Amino acid sequence: MRHFVLFLSFCCSALFVLLVVQADPSVSPMQKKEQQALYSTIQGFVGKWWNGSDLYPDPCGWTPIQGVYCDLYNGFWYVAVINIGPIYDNYLHCSPNAEFSHQLFKLKHLKVLSFFNCFLSPITISYLNWEKLSNSIESLEFRSNPGLIGKIPNTFGYLTKLESLMLLENGLQGKLPTEIGNLVNLRRLVLAGNNLSGEIPPSLGGLVKLLILDASRNKLSGSLPLTFGSLTSLLKLDLSNNMIQGKLPRELGRLKNLTLLDLGSNKISGGLVHSLQEMVSMKELVISNNPIGGGLIRIQWQNLHELEILDLSNTFLTGHIPKSLAEMKRLRFLGLNNNNLSGRISPRLESLPCIGALYLYGNNFTGEVEFSEWFYRKMGRRFGAWNNPNLCYRGEANSTHYVPYGVKSCQQEPIFYSDNVPHLKL
Ligand SMILES: *[C@@H]1O[C@H](CO)[C@@H](O)[C@H](O)[C@H]1NC(C)=O
Ligand SMILES: *[C@@H]1O[C@H](CO)[C@@H](O)[C@H](O)[C@H]1NC(C)=O
Ligand SMILES: *[C@@H]1O[C@H](CO)[C@@H](O)[C@H](O)[C@H]1NC(C)=O
Ligand SMILES: *[C@@H]1O[C@H](CO)[C@@H](O)[C@H](O)[C@H]1NC(C)=O
Ligand SMILES: *[C@@H]1O[C@H](CO)[C@@H](O)[C@H](O)[C@H]1NC(C)=O
Ligand SMILES: *[C@@H]1O[C@H](CO)[C@@H](O)[C@H](O)[C@H]1NC(C)=O
Repeated sequence: MRHFVLFLSFCCSALFVLLVVQADPSVSPMQKKEQQALYSTIQGFVGKWWNGSDLYPDPCGWTPIQGVYCDLYNGFWYVAVINIGPIYDNYLHCSPNAEFSHQLFKLKHLKVLSFFNCFLSPITISYLNWEKLSNSIESLEFRSNPGLIGKIPNTFGYLTKLESLMLLENGLQGKLPTEIGNLVNLRRLVLAGNNLSGEIPPSLGGLVKLLILDASRNKLSGSLPLTFGSLTSLLKLDLSNNMIQGKLPRELGRLKNLTLLDLGSNKISGGLVHSLQEMVSMKELVISNNPIGGGLIRIQWQNLHELEILDLSNTFLTGHIPKSLAEMKRLRFLGLNNNNLSGRISPRLESLPCIGALYLYGNNFTGEVEFSEWFYRKMGRRFGAWNNPNLCYRGEANSTHYVPYGVKSCQQEPIFYSDNVPHLKL
Protein backbone atom coordinates (compact mmCIF):
# COMPACT_ATOMS: atom_id res chain seq x y z
CA MET A 1 0.00 0.00 0.00
CA ARG A 2 2.73 2.37 0.92
CA HIS A 3 4.46 1.51 -2.33
CA PHE A 4 1.38 2.36 -4.23
CA VAL A 5 1.11 5.75 -2.61
CA LEU A 6 4.72 6.47 -3.35
CA PHE A 7 4.25 5.42 -6.93
CA LEU A 8 1.16 7.55 -7.27
CA SER A 9 2.87 10.61 -5.87
CA PHE A 10 5.82 10.06 -8.22
CA CYS A 11 3.43 9.83 -11.14
CA CYS A 12 1.68 12.97 -10.08
CA SER A 13 4.79 14.99 -9.77
CA ALA A 14 6.02 13.71 -13.17
CA LEU A 15 2.69 14.66 -14.64
CA PHE A 16 2.86 17.98 -12.92
CA VAL A 17 6.27 18.72 -14.42
CA LEU A 18 5.01 17.69 -17.82
CA LEU A 19 1.93 19.90 -17.47
CA VAL A 20 3.97 22.88 -16.44
CA VAL A 21 6.27 22.47 -19.41
CA GLN A 22 3.38 22.02 -21.78
CA ALA A 23 1.36 24.83 -20.38
CA ASP A 24 4.22 27.29 -20.38
CA PRO A 25 6.96 26.59 -22.91
CA SER A 26 8.95 29.55 -21.62
CA VAL A 27 9.98 27.35 -18.66
CA SER A 28 11.96 25.19 -21.06
CA PRO A 29 15.42 26.61 -20.57
CA MET A 30 16.39 27.18 -24.18
CA GLN A 31 16.80 30.63 -25.57
CA LYS A 32 14.53 31.53 -28.48
CA LYS A 33 17.55 32.61 -30.47
CA GLU A 34 19.23 29.22 -30.11
CA GLN A 35 16.00 27.41 -30.91
CA GLN A 36 15.42 29.48 -34.04
CA ALA A 37 19.00 28.94 -35.16
CA LEU A 38 18.56 25.17 -34.80
CA TYR A 39 15.30 25.17 -36.76
CA SER A 40 16.73 27.26 -39.59
CA THR A 41 19.86 25.17 -39.74
CA ILE A 42 17.97 21.94 -40.09
CA GLN A 43 15.44 23.44 -42.44
CA GLY A 44 18.32 24.44 -44.71
CA PHE A 45 19.38 20.83 -45.07
CA VAL A 46 16.01 19.14 -44.93
CA GLY A 47 13.84 21.53 -46.93
CA LYS A 48 11.35 24.33 -46.42
CA TRP A 49 8.51 21.93 -45.60
CA TRP A 50 10.18 21.06 -42.33
CA ASN A 51 8.58 23.20 -39.62
CA GLY A 52 10.65 22.70 -36.49
CA SER A 53 8.55 24.81 -34.12
CA ASP A 54 5.50 22.80 -35.12
CA LEU A 55 7.09 19.35 -34.98
CA TYR A 56 9.62 19.81 -32.20
CA PRO A 57 8.51 22.63 -29.88
CA ASP A 58 11.02 21.55 -27.21
CA PRO A 59 14.00 20.13 -29.14
CA CYS A 60 16.28 19.75 -26.12
CA GLY A 61 13.50 18.45 -23.89
CA TRP A 62 10.45 16.33 -24.49
CA THR A 63 10.41 16.54 -28.32
CA PRO A 64 13.97 15.55 -29.26
CA ILE A 65 15.02 15.67 -32.90
CA GLN A 66 16.73 12.55 -34.25
CA GLY A 67 20.47 13.09 -34.35
CA VAL A 68 20.36 16.33 -32.34
CA TYR A 69 21.72 16.45 -28.79
CA CYS A 70 21.94 19.31 -26.34
CA ASP A 71 24.10 20.31 -23.40
CA LEU A 72 23.39 22.66 -20.51
CA TYR A 73 25.48 25.80 -20.15
CA ASN A 74 24.69 28.28 -17.38
CA GLY A 75 21.25 26.79 -16.94
CA PHE A 76 20.28 26.94 -20.62
CA TRP A 77 20.12 24.26 -23.24
CA TYR A 78 22.40 24.61 -26.23
CA VAL A 79 22.75 22.43 -29.30
CA ALA A 80 25.89 20.30 -28.97
CA VAL A 81 25.51 17.68 -31.67
CA ILE A 82 23.88 17.66 -35.10
CA ASN A 83 23.95 14.53 -37.24
CA ILE A 84 22.28 14.79 -40.61
CA GLY A 85 21.69 11.71 -42.73
CA PRO A 86 20.57 8.09 -42.57
CA ILE A 87 22.26 6.87 -39.41
CA TYR A 88 19.18 6.57 -37.24
CA ASP A 89 15.75 5.06 -37.83
CA ASN A 90 13.82 8.25 -37.93
CA TYR A 91 16.57 10.34 -39.41
CA LEU A 92 16.60 13.74 -41.07
CA HIS A 93 16.65 13.33 -44.86
CA CYS A 94 18.40 15.97 -46.88
CA SER A 95 16.48 17.71 -49.60
CA PRO A 96 17.94 17.68 -53.13
CA ASN A 97 18.80 21.35 -52.71
CA ALA A 98 20.23 21.15 -49.22
CA GLU A 99 22.10 24.28 -48.18
CA PHE A 100 24.07 25.69 -45.27
CA SER A 101 22.00 28.23 -43.39
CA HIS A 102 24.06 31.07 -41.93
CA GLN A 103 22.14 30.36 -38.71
CA LEU A 104 24.26 27.24 -38.30
CA PHE A 105 27.11 29.46 -37.21
CA LYS A 106 25.05 30.97 -34.39
CA LEU A 107 25.07 27.66 -32.51
CA LYS A 108 27.91 28.68 -30.29
CA HIS A 109 28.20 25.45 -28.29
CA LEU A 110 28.10 23.09 -31.27
CA LYS A 111 30.73 20.39 -30.73
CA VAL A 112 29.84 17.77 -33.30
CA LEU A 113 28.54 18.34 -36.82
CA SER A 114 28.20 15.47 -39.23
CA PHE A 115 26.67 14.90 -42.64
CA PHE A 116 26.30 11.41 -43.99
CA ASN A 117 24.90 10.81 -47.46
CA CYS A 118 23.29 14.23 -47.49
CA PHE A 119 24.60 16.27 -50.40
CA LEU A 120 23.81 14.42 -53.60
CA SER A 121 23.53 17.31 -56.04
CA PRO A 122 26.52 19.60 -56.53
CA ILE A 123 27.23 21.97 -53.66
CA THR A 124 30.41 23.56 -52.34
CA ILE A 125 31.24 24.38 -48.73
CA SER A 126 31.32 28.14 -48.34
CA TYR A 127 34.47 29.52 -46.77
CA LEU A 128 32.40 32.08 -44.82
CA ASN A 129 31.58 32.03 -41.12
CA TRP A 130 33.53 28.98 -39.98
CA GLU A 131 35.57 31.11 -37.59
CA LYS A 132 32.40 31.52 -35.52
CA LEU A 133 32.59 27.85 -34.55
CA SER A 134 36.25 28.06 -33.65
CA ASN A 135 35.67 27.99 -29.89
CA SER A 136 33.36 25.03 -29.86
CA ILE A 137 33.54 22.49 -32.65
CA GLU A 138 35.52 19.33 -31.92
CA SER A 139 34.34 16.96 -34.62
CA LEU A 140 33.39 17.80 -38.20
CA GLU A 141 32.40 15.08 -40.58
CA PHE A 142 31.27 14.92 -44.21
CA ARG A 143 30.96 11.31 -45.26
CA SER A 144 29.66 9.82 -48.52
CA ASN A 145 28.34 13.04 -50.03
CA PRO A 146 28.94 12.65 -53.76
CA GLY A 147 27.53 16.11 -54.46
CA LEU A 148 29.98 17.84 -52.16
CA ILE A 149 32.49 19.33 -54.60
CA GLY A 150 34.84 22.27 -54.71
CA LYS A 151 37.69 22.99 -52.36
CA ILE A 152 38.14 22.38 -48.69
CA PRO A 153 37.67 25.90 -47.28
CA ASN A 154 40.91 27.26 -45.88
CA THR A 155 38.76 28.76 -43.10
CA PHE A 156 38.55 25.25 -41.60
CA GLY A 157 41.94 26.34 -40.31
CA TYR A 158 40.12 28.44 -37.69
CA LEU A 159 38.61 25.38 -36.06
CA THR A 160 41.52 24.89 -33.71
CA LYS A 161 39.50 22.84 -31.22
CA LEU A 162 38.88 20.14 -33.82
CA GLU A 163 40.00 16.70 -32.76
CA SER A 164 38.50 14.90 -35.71
CA LEU A 165 38.13 16.15 -39.27
CA MET A 166 36.60 13.49 -41.43
CA LEU A 167 36.05 14.31 -45.11
CA LEU A 168 35.54 10.79 -46.39
CA GLU A 169 34.27 9.86 -49.85
CA ASN A 170 32.94 13.13 -51.15
CA GLY A 171 33.81 14.91 -54.40
CA LEU A 172 36.18 17.46 -52.88
CA GLN A 173 38.81 18.83 -55.26
CA GLY A 174 41.80 21.10 -55.42
CA LYS A 175 44.68 21.49 -53.02
CA LEU A 176 44.69 20.73 -49.36
CA PRO A 177 44.74 24.13 -47.64
CA THR A 178 47.96 24.87 -45.75
CA GLU A 179 45.77 26.12 -42.90
CA ILE A 180 44.82 22.55 -41.99
CA GLY A 181 48.22 22.62 -40.30
CA ASN A 182 46.76 25.02 -37.70
CA LEU A 183 44.48 22.34 -36.30
CA VAL A 184 46.96 21.33 -33.64
CA ASN A 185 44.44 19.37 -31.59
CA LEU A 186 43.56 16.98 -34.39
CA ARG A 187 43.73 13.31 -33.48
CA ARG A 188 42.18 12.09 -36.69
CA LEU A 189 42.37 13.55 -40.20
CA VAL A 190 40.60 11.55 -42.88
CA LEU A 191 40.49 12.89 -46.43
CA ALA A 192 40.21 9.58 -48.26
CA GLY A 193 38.20 8.98 -51.39
CA ASN A 194 37.95 12.50 -52.76
CA ASN A 195 39.53 14.12 -55.77
CA LEU A 196 42.14 16.19 -53.95
CA SER A 197 45.23 17.13 -55.93
CA GLY A 198 48.45 19.08 -55.61
CA GLU A 199 51.13 18.63 -53.02
CA ILE A 200 50.64 17.67 -49.41
CA PRO A 201 51.32 20.88 -47.46
CA PRO A 202 54.37 20.55 -45.19
CA SER A 203 52.34 22.35 -42.51
CA LEU A 204 50.62 19.03 -41.75
CA GLY A 205 53.82 18.16 -39.89
CA GLY A 206 52.59 20.50 -37.14
CA LEU A 207 49.74 18.18 -36.21
CA VAL A 208 51.74 16.56 -33.46
CA LYS A 209 48.77 14.97 -31.71
CA LEU A 210 47.62 13.18 -34.85
CA LEU A 211 46.95 9.46 -34.44
CA ILE A 212 45.36 8.72 -37.79
CA LEU A 213 46.10 10.37 -41.13
CA ASP A 214 44.29 8.88 -44.09
CA ALA A 215 44.44 10.73 -47.41
CA SER A 216 44.23 7.62 -49.57
CA ARG A 217 42.35 7.45 -52.88
CA ASN A 218 42.93 11.01 -54.08
CA LYS A 219 45.21 12.55 -56.70
CA LEU A 220 47.82 14.01 -54.40
CA SER A 221 51.21 14.53 -56.01
CA GLY A 222 54.61 15.87 -55.09
CA SER A 223 56.82 14.17 -52.57
CA LEU A 224 56.19 13.14 -48.99
CA PRO A 225 56.90 16.18 -46.79
CA LEU A 226 59.99 15.76 -44.62
CA THR A 227 57.94 17.35 -41.83
CA PHE A 228 56.01 14.08 -41.48
CA GLY A 229 58.89 13.02 -39.25
CA SER A 230 57.33 15.25 -36.55
CA LEU A 231 54.10 13.27 -36.45
CA THR A 232 55.52 11.08 -33.72
CA SER A 233 52.14 10.17 -32.21
CA LEU A 234 50.89 8.66 -35.47
CA LEU A 235 49.49 5.16 -35.39
CA LYS A 236 48.21 4.97 -38.96
CA LEU A 237 49.39 6.71 -42.10
CA ASP A 238 47.59 5.82 -45.29
CA LEU A 239 48.45 7.71 -48.47
CA SER A 240 47.80 4.83 -50.85
CA ASN A 241 46.35 5.33 -54.32
CA ASN A 242 47.66 8.79 -55.05
CA MET A 243 50.39 10.08 -57.35
CA ILE A 244 53.04 10.76 -54.75
CA GLN A 245 56.56 10.67 -56.14
CA GLY A 246 60.12 11.21 -54.96
CA LYS A 247 61.93 9.27 -52.28
CA LEU A 248 60.82 7.86 -48.97
CA PRO A 249 62.07 10.45 -46.48
CA ARG A 250 64.58 9.22 -43.94
CA GLU A 251 62.53 11.09 -41.32
CA LEU A 252 59.87 8.36 -41.46
CA GLY A 253 62.10 6.42 -39.10
CA ARG A 254 61.02 8.77 -36.31
CA LEU A 255 57.48 7.43 -36.35
CA LYS A 256 58.13 4.89 -33.64
CA ASN A 257 54.46 4.37 -32.77
CA LEU A 258 53.27 3.84 -36.32
CA THR A 259 51.53 0.51 -36.76
CA LEU A 260 50.29 0.96 -40.32
CA LEU A 261 52.06 2.59 -43.24
CA ASP A 262 50.31 2.23 -46.57
CA LEU A 263 51.93 4.00 -49.50
CA GLY A 264 50.72 1.48 -52.08
CA SER A 265 49.94 2.55 -55.65
CA ASN A 266 51.91 5.78 -55.90
CA LYS A 267 55.02 6.74 -57.85
CA ILE A 268 57.60 6.59 -55.11
CA SER A 269 61.14 5.72 -56.19
CA GLY A 270 64.67 5.82 -54.84
CA GLY A 271 64.82 2.52 -52.98
CA LEU A 272 63.67 1.40 -49.54
CA VAL A 273 65.05 3.89 -47.08
CA HIS A 274 67.26 2.37 -44.43
CA SER A 275 65.41 4.09 -41.58
CA LEU A 276 62.30 1.97 -42.24
CA GLN A 277 63.87 -0.49 -39.83
CA GLU A 278 63.46 2.07 -37.03
CA MET A 279 59.68 2.03 -37.22
CA VAL A 280 59.61 -0.58 -34.52
CA SER A 281 55.84 -0.69 -33.88
CA MET A 282 54.98 -1.40 -37.49
CA LYS A 283 52.46 -4.15 -38.05
CA GLU A 284 51.44 -3.48 -41.62
CA LEU A 285 53.80 -2.07 -44.23
CA VAL A 286 52.47 -1.73 -47.74
CA ILE A 287 54.48 -0.04 -50.47
CA SER A 288 53.29 -2.18 -53.39
CA ASN A 289 52.86 -0.77 -56.88
CA ASN A 290 55.56 1.89 -56.77
CA PRO A 291 58.74 2.12 -58.85
CA ILE A 292 60.82 1.89 -55.68
CA GLY A 293 63.69 -0.14 -57.09
CA GLY A 294 66.80 -1.22 -55.24
CA GLY A 295 67.05 -4.24 -53.00
CA LEU A 296 65.93 -5.68 -49.70
CA ILE A 297 69.30 -6.31 -48.14
CA ARG A 298 69.98 -2.88 -46.64
CA ILE A 299 67.24 -3.29 -44.07
CA GLN A 300 67.57 -5.30 -40.87
CA TRP A 301 64.11 -6.73 -41.19
CA GLN A 302 64.27 -8.53 -37.86
CA ASN A 303 64.13 -5.10 -36.14
CA LEU A 304 60.51 -4.83 -37.26
CA HIS A 305 59.54 -7.48 -34.77
CA GLU A 306 55.85 -6.59 -34.78
CA LEU A 307 55.46 -6.78 -38.55
CA GLU A 308 52.58 -8.95 -39.69
CA ILE A 309 52.01 -7.75 -43.24
CA LEU A 310 54.75 -6.78 -45.67
CA ASP A 311 53.65 -6.03 -49.19
CA LEU A 312 56.38 -4.98 -51.59
CA SER A 313 54.86 -6.48 -54.70
CA ASN A 314 55.44 -4.75 -58.02
CA THR A 315 58.12 -2.39 -56.78
CA PHE A 316 61.01 -3.13 -59.20
CA LEU A 317 63.06 -4.78 -56.48
CA THR A 318 66.26 -6.53 -57.50
CA GLY A 319 68.77 -8.72 -55.73
CA HIS A 320 68.26 -11.48 -53.18
CA ILE A 321 65.94 -12.14 -50.28
CA PRO A 322 68.01 -11.43 -47.16
CA LYS A 323 68.19 -13.89 -44.30
CA SER A 324 66.73 -11.35 -41.90
CA LEU A 325 63.35 -11.65 -43.63
CA ALA A 326 63.12 -15.21 -42.37
CA GLU A 327 63.42 -13.98 -38.78
CA MET A 328 60.17 -12.07 -38.56
CA LYS A 329 58.30 -13.92 -35.90
CA ARG A 330 54.88 -12.40 -36.55
CA LEU A 331 54.86 -12.17 -40.32
CA ARG A 332 51.58 -13.47 -41.74
CA PHE A 333 51.74 -12.04 -45.25
CA LEU A 334 54.79 -11.54 -47.41
CA GLY A 335 54.23 -10.17 -50.90
CA LEU A 336 57.35 -9.94 -53.03
CA ASN A 337 55.68 -10.94 -56.27
CA ASN A 338 56.15 -9.15 -59.58
CA ASN A 339 59.62 -7.85 -58.97
CA ASN A 340 63.01 -8.71 -60.41
CA LEU A 341 64.32 -10.64 -57.44
CA SER A 342 66.82 -13.36 -58.10
CA GLY A 343 68.93 -15.95 -56.37
CA ARG A 344 67.64 -18.92 -54.45
CA ILE A 345 64.54 -19.07 -52.28
CA SER A 346 65.79 -19.88 -48.82
CA PRO A 347 64.02 -22.85 -47.24
CA ARG A 348 64.28 -20.93 -43.97
CA LEU A 349 61.19 -18.96 -45.02
CA GLU A 350 59.24 -22.07 -44.15
CA SER A 351 60.08 -21.54 -40.52
CA LEU A 352 58.26 -18.21 -40.29
CA PRO A 353 55.90 -19.30 -37.53
CA CYS A 354 52.85 -17.27 -38.55
CA ILE A 355 53.15 -17.21 -42.30
CA GLY A 356 49.84 -17.64 -44.09
CA ALA A 357 50.63 -16.21 -47.53
CA LEU A 358 53.99 -16.09 -49.29
CA TYR A 359 53.94 -14.63 -52.78
CA LEU A 360 57.14 -14.82 -54.78
CA TYR A 361 55.72 -15.22 -58.27
CA GLY A 362 56.78 -13.14 -61.25
CA ASN A 363 60.45 -12.85 -60.31
CA ASN A 364 63.66 -14.44 -61.53
CA PHE A 365 64.42 -16.84 -58.71
CA THR A 366 66.60 -19.75 -59.65
CA GLY A 367 67.53 -23.18 -58.38
CA GLU A 368 65.39 -25.46 -56.31
CA VAL A 369 62.61 -24.64 -53.87
CA GLU A 370 63.17 -26.93 -50.97
CA PHE A 371 60.19 -26.52 -48.72
CA SER A 372 58.61 -29.55 -47.14
CA GLU A 373 55.54 -31.21 -48.46
CA TRP A 374 53.86 -30.17 -45.24
CA PHE A 375 54.45 -26.56 -46.19
CA TYR A 376 52.99 -26.89 -49.70
CA ARG A 377 50.00 -28.61 -48.25
CA LYS A 378 49.46 -25.99 -45.56
CA MET A 379 49.80 -23.09 -47.98
CA GLY A 380 48.13 -24.30 -51.16
CA ARG A 381 48.10 -21.44 -53.64
CA ARG A 382 48.98 -19.04 -50.89
CA PHE A 383 52.49 -20.14 -51.62
CA GLY A 384 52.95 -18.52 -55.02
CA ALA A 385 56.18 -19.16 -56.88
CA TRP A 386 54.94 -19.47 -60.44
CA ASN A 387 56.35 -17.36 -63.24
CA ASN A 388 59.93 -17.84 -62.18
CA PRO A 389 61.23 -19.51 -65.35
CA ASN A 390 64.44 -20.79 -63.81
CA LEU A 391 62.93 -22.24 -60.67
CA CYS A 392 62.05 -25.85 -59.96
CA TYR A 393 61.07 -27.88 -56.96
CA ARG A 394 62.99 -30.82 -55.66
CA GLY A 395 60.82 -33.84 -55.60
CA GLU A 396 59.54 -36.48 -57.86
CA ALA A 397 57.39 -35.42 -60.71
CA ASN A 398 55.52 -38.69 -60.48
CA SER A 399 54.69 -38.16 -56.88
CA THR A 400 51.13 -37.98 -55.74
CA HIS A 401 52.22 -35.61 -53.06
CA TYR A 402 51.68 -31.91 -52.58
CA VAL A 403 53.87 -29.76 -54.81
CA PRO A 404 54.19 -26.00 -55.32
CA TYR A 405 51.62 -24.75 -57.77
CA GLY A 406 52.94 -23.69 -61.18
CA VAL A 407 56.56 -24.67 -60.49
CA LYS A 408 58.19 -27.38 -62.56
CA SER A 409 59.98 -30.37 -61.14
CA CYS A 410 63.74 -30.36 -61.30
CA GLN A 411 63.55 -33.83 -62.81
CA GLN A 412 63.70 -33.23 -66.48
CA GLU A 413 62.43 -36.49 -68.00
CA PRO A 414 59.58 -35.30 -70.17
CA ILE A 415 57.94 -38.70 -70.22
CA PHE A 416 57.52 -38.59 -66.50
CA TYR A 417 56.22 -35.13 -66.60
CA SER A 418 53.56 -35.55 -69.21
CA ASP A 419 52.24 -38.69 -67.55
CA ASN A 420 52.07 -37.08 -64.16
CA VAL A 421 51.47 -33.38 -64.39
CA PRO A 422 52.17 -31.93 -60.96
CA HIS A 423 48.96 -30.69 -59.51
CA LEU A 424 47.77 -29.01 -56.46
CA LYS A 425 45.44 -30.46 -53.92
CA LEU A 426 43.86 -27.97 -51.61
C1 LIG B 1 5.61 26.79 -38.55
O1 LIG B 1 4.34 26.61 -38.00
C2 LIG B 1 3.90 27.70 -37.19
C3 LIG B 1 2.60 27.33 -36.53
O2 LIG B 1 1.89 26.41 -37.31
C4 LIG B 1 3.81 28.95 -38.04
O3 LIG B 1 3.37 30.04 -37.26
C5 LIG B 1 5.15 29.24 -38.63
O4 LIG B 1 5.10 30.34 -39.51
C6 LIG B 1 5.70 28.04 -39.39
N1 LIG B 1 7.07 28.32 -39.71
C7 LIG B 1 7.58 28.07 -40.90
C8 LIG B 1 9.03 28.44 -41.08
O5 LIG B 1 6.96 27.59 -41.81
C1 LIG C 1 38.51 15.18 -60.40
O1 LIG C 1 39.11 16.43 -60.70
C2 LIG C 1 39.48 16.56 -62.04
C3 LIG C 1 40.18 17.89 -62.18
O2 LIG C 1 41.20 18.00 -61.22
C4 LIG C 1 38.24 16.49 -62.92
O3 LIG C 1 38.60 16.57 -64.26
C5 LIG C 1 37.52 15.17 -62.65
O4 LIG C 1 36.30 15.13 -63.34
C6 LIG C 1 37.24 15.00 -61.18
N1 LIG C 1 36.70 13.68 -60.95
C7 LIG C 1 35.70 13.46 -60.11
C8 LIG C 1 35.28 12.04 -59.95
O5 LIG C 1 35.15 14.35 -59.50
C1 LIG D 1 53.89 6.08 -28.19
O1 LIG D 1 53.14 5.08 -27.54
C2 LIG D 1 53.43 4.95 -26.16
C3 LIG D 1 52.69 3.74 -25.66
O2 LIG D 1 51.37 3.76 -26.07
C4 LIG D 1 53.08 6.24 -25.45
O3 LIG D 1 53.38 6.13 -24.09
C5 LIG D 1 53.86 7.36 -26.08
O4 LIG D 1 53.48 8.59 -25.50
C6 LIG D 1 53.64 7.43 -27.57
N1 LIG D 1 54.52 8.39 -28.17
C7 LIG D 1 54.08 9.49 -28.71
C8 LIG D 1 55.12 10.40 -29.26
O5 LIG D 1 52.91 9.75 -28.79
C1 LIG E 1 66.49 -7.68 -63.66
O1 LIG E 1 67.76 -7.54 -63.04
C2 LIG E 1 68.86 -7.91 -63.85
C3 LIG E 1 70.11 -7.74 -63.05
O2 LIG E 1 69.96 -8.30 -61.79
C4 LIG E 1 68.87 -7.03 -65.07
O3 LIG E 1 69.93 -7.44 -65.94
C5 LIG E 1 67.55 -7.12 -65.78
O4 LIG E 1 67.50 -6.22 -66.86
C6 LIG E 1 66.40 -6.82 -64.85
N1 LIG E 1 65.16 -7.06 -65.54
C7 LIG E 1 64.13 -6.24 -65.47
C8 LIG E 1 62.89 -6.66 -66.20
O5 LIG E 1 64.16 -5.20 -64.84
C1 LIG F 1 67.33 -14.08 -64.70
O1 LIG F 1 68.55 -14.49 -64.11
C2 LIG F 1 69.47 -15.06 -65.02
C3 LIG F 1 70.74 -15.45 -64.28
O2 LIG F 1 70.45 -15.99 -63.04
C4 LIG F 1 69.83 -14.08 -66.10
O3 LIG F 1 70.65 -14.69 -67.05
C5 LIG F 1 68.56 -13.59 -66.78
O4 LIG F 1 68.89 -12.54 -67.67
C6 LIG F 1 67.59 -13.05 -65.75
N1 LIG F 1 66.33 -12.71 -66.41
C7 LIG F 1 65.76 -11.52 -66.27
C8 LIG F 1 64.45 -11.34 -66.97
O5 LIG F 1 66.23 -10.63 -65.59
C1 LIG G 1 58.57 -42.14 -58.86
O1 LIG G 1 59.59 -42.56 -59.75
C2 LIG G 1 60.78 -43.02 -59.11
C3 LIG G 1 61.78 -43.36 -60.18
O2 LIG G 1 62.21 -42.24 -60.83
C4 LIG G 1 60.46 -44.21 -58.25
O3 LIG G 1 61.63 -44.62 -57.59
C5 LIG G 1 59.40 -43.85 -57.24
O4 LIG G 1 59.00 -44.98 -56.54
C6 LIG G 1 58.17 -43.27 -57.96
N1 LIG G 1 57.24 -42.77 -56.95
C7 LIG G 1 55.97 -42.99 -57.02
C8 LIG G 1 55.14 -42.40 -55.89
O5 LIG G 1 55.44 -43.60 -57.92
